[in-house]
Amino acid sequence: MLFVTGITGHTGKWFLKRLIEEKYPGKIRCVVREHSDTSLLDQSGFDIEKVYGSLEDQPFLESVMTGVETVVHIASIVFSEKVVDAAIKNQVKWVVLVHTTGRYSKYKSASEEYIRIEDGILKKLDLIGITVLRPTIIYGSSGDRNMYKLVDYLFRHRFFPMFGKGDNLMQPVHARDLGNAYYDVLMSREKTFNREYNLSGGATIKYIDLVRSVSSALNRKNSIVKIPLSLSILAARIYNAMTKNAIISVEQVLRMQEDKDFSYEQASRDFGYSPMPFEEGIKGEVEEYLRLRGNL
Ligand SMILES: NC(=O)c1ccc[n+]([C@@H]2O[C@H](COP(=O)([O-])OP(=O)(O)OC[C@H]3O[C@@H](n4cnc5c(N)ncnc54)[C@H](OP(=O)(O)O)[C@@H]3O)[C@@H](O)[C@H]2O)c1
Repeated sequence: MLFVTGITGHTGKWFLKRLIEEKYPGKIRCVVREHSDTSLLDQSGFDIEKVYGSLEDQPFLESVMTGVETVVHIASIVFSEKVVDAAIKNQVKWVVLVHTTGRYSKYKSASEEYIRIEDGILKKLDLIGITVLRPTIIYGSSGDRNMYKLVDYLFRHRFFPMFGKGDNLMQPVHARDLGNAYYDVLMSREKTFNREYNLSGGATIKYIDLVRSVSSALNRKNSIVKIPLSLSILAARIYNAMTKNAIISVEQVLRMQEDKDFSYEQASRDFGYSPMPFEEGIKGEVEEYLRLRGNL
């Protein structure tokens, strides 16, 4: 029995599509909530058991993991300790955890909690098999919380303010590549059991080129206005001192300058991971945006 969390989410949906496409032969049980959009699951005709509840509820988790052999936990790292403990109690053999490259940030506020959770879990390797997947920033459709906002901003505004030079490296990963990776990890157990993988996008791209690339996919002529870093920090400081619910902090401005490129070489070697580059992946997201706005 395969147990899945987060199957109704942005990358979970791609994982589900792949399970269906490949006619996954085993039994599947997944956790959903009352308000989850389960239409894809329901229309698939695929035999998947749904259990309703929250991952915050430890007794619930323990009760629904009976008879489970493998867990693919996509929902969020914040639930990972509970998921792993419930799995251990149920003598589950292997958990695949979708975490984040956020643990590599040099800013403690961004990485500390991820490191604490992940390293705590990895101490339990003598009790259960653990594979950790670490995506970079995820994009790919209206279901993402990052790039879609940028697409919308660039569509609606002529000027784009850029804090600093924008030459830091990014490597966003498409949700479809992740959904496929979850499946391939599962199917390559002999290589992926007890391993850790960074799952980044097909190529590194400078932040400024990423913005240009979205702008070009939208067929807009946005002007990028570079605000020198020192001035950006000063402006963020003043803004934060004057505003109660500031939407950007000084540290966020600094974190934007960090390189966020991570090699996926190990994943390519072990399960043939071969993600698409951003320029290719963003086209579909822009098309969806324009279609939903009625501009296509
Ligand atoms: N977004 C990024 O850029 C980024 C970067 C690196 C890593 N990650 C991590 O990568 C993973 C996959 O991301 P994603 O974009 O596929 O996530 P997502 O779209 O946010 O989906 C989250 C899923 O978790 C479920 N969920 C959330 N809280 C739950 C709860 N209390 N009980 C039961 N189910 C719950 C949601 O169910 P509903 O359908 O009911 O909402 C949904 O299926 C996540 O762990 C995310 O933290 C994200």
